[in-house]
Amino acid sequence: MLRDQFPGLNVTVHGKPLVYLDNAATACRPQRVLDAVQEYYTRFNANIHRGVHTLSEIATERFEGARESMARLINAPSARQLVFTRGSTESINLVANTFARERLSAGDEILISYMEHHSNIVPWQLLCQQTGAVLKVIPMNERGELRLETLDELITERTKMLAVVHVSNSLGTINPVKEIIAKAHAREVPVLVDGAQALPHMAVDVQDLDCDFYTISGHKMYGPTGIGILYGKMEHLEAMPPWQGGGEMIAKVTFERTVFNHVPAKFEAGTPNIAGGIGLGAAAEFIMDVGMDKIQARDAELLAYATEKMQAIDGLRLIGTAACKTAVNSFVIDGVHPHDLGTVLDHYGIAIRTGHHCTMPALQFFKVPGTARASFAFYNTHEEIDYFVDCVQKAREMFT
Ligand code: ALA
Repeated sequence: MLRDQFPGLNVTVHGKPLVYLDNAATACRPQRVLDAVQEYYTRFNANIHRGVHTLSEIATERFEGARESMARLINAPSARQLVFTRGSTESINLVANTFARERLSAGDEILISYMEHHSNIVPWQLLCQQTGAVLKVIPMNERGELRLETLDELITERTKMLAVVHVSNSLGTINPVKEIIAKAHAREVPVLVDGAQALPHMAVDVQDLDCDFYTISGHKMYGPTGIGILYGKMEHLEAMPPWQGGGEMIAKVTFERTVFNHVPAKFEAGTPNIAGGIGLGAAAEFIMDVGMDKIQARDAELLAYATEKMQAIDGLRLIGTAACKTAVNSFVIDGVHPHDLGTVLDHYGIAIRTGHHCTMPALQFFKVPGTARASFAFYNTHEEIDYFVDCVQKAREMFT
């Protein structure tokens, strides 16, 4: 069984078998990802791109092989268009501080959406403060769907960048990013897509989307923490200035000047997270072996099952009911504080996330300070969902 390949699921919490429903915060890792990381440290422990010795060559080959695997996963034209970063957050900060900064003057506009994670709000806010640019926001409706009819008006001749989340971490909404990108491109506005929550659930084809940038967090797609990807169109990556200076990102250094390395090394200053990169490659291979179509179908089935069961709980209100949704159910229950619910569920061995999920503006829209969030992955089971719903009922009875 696929589930058996995830040792992190096979633990007990407060003496109960773990029911892990916090996959949107971070997923579990299959054994082959753990093995890939362990193998690096135990069998070819060496720095990459630097040594002529055997171990360095093997490590470099594995690290670059991982880049190739990730490129195949997202159908990038070339692995060179993938920059290793710490994750989606760092990828967005990189684009904000290089590509976007160079294009902005006071009064220019950056467009984001109401349901962005803080990581796709704050970097743009900082940039606006530094350049005098203005942040504008695509509104959403009561179901947590973007109101795309406003786009034509929101995009102006001053819009220099559009940054939008592919899948909302707190609402589960899958945004029609291909349509958004086409509309933005028709007005010559480049688009960054925050894909942190998309990759664990759905097939992503960056060429089909035609996005200018796509950002990925490894730990959400069954890979290690502290590693991720920035995908960019080659013409952008070539033209962008480096962000951080240091080793590896240079071709030649004198005290007078530095000639920068080619893409993607130009953006990879310093020794990278080598083990993380190799682990991420293993996660990409794992997903491709399982098949994204299978993962997607299982997600849809789990979401439908959980939604039906959860809606039967008295006083439960789902926050985020978009027609196109991934396996994330945020909810509030009359008279029960989400943190209290989370604490009770923990004692039953159930892990969920409670709070604002780093999307304060989205939750302010729904007039709630926080929610409880159950987020599912393909390895979750109907029995786990039944147990979760039972325990939520018990908690509700305790507090009301
Ligand atoms: N952004 C992550 C979440 O949704 C951490 O929980």
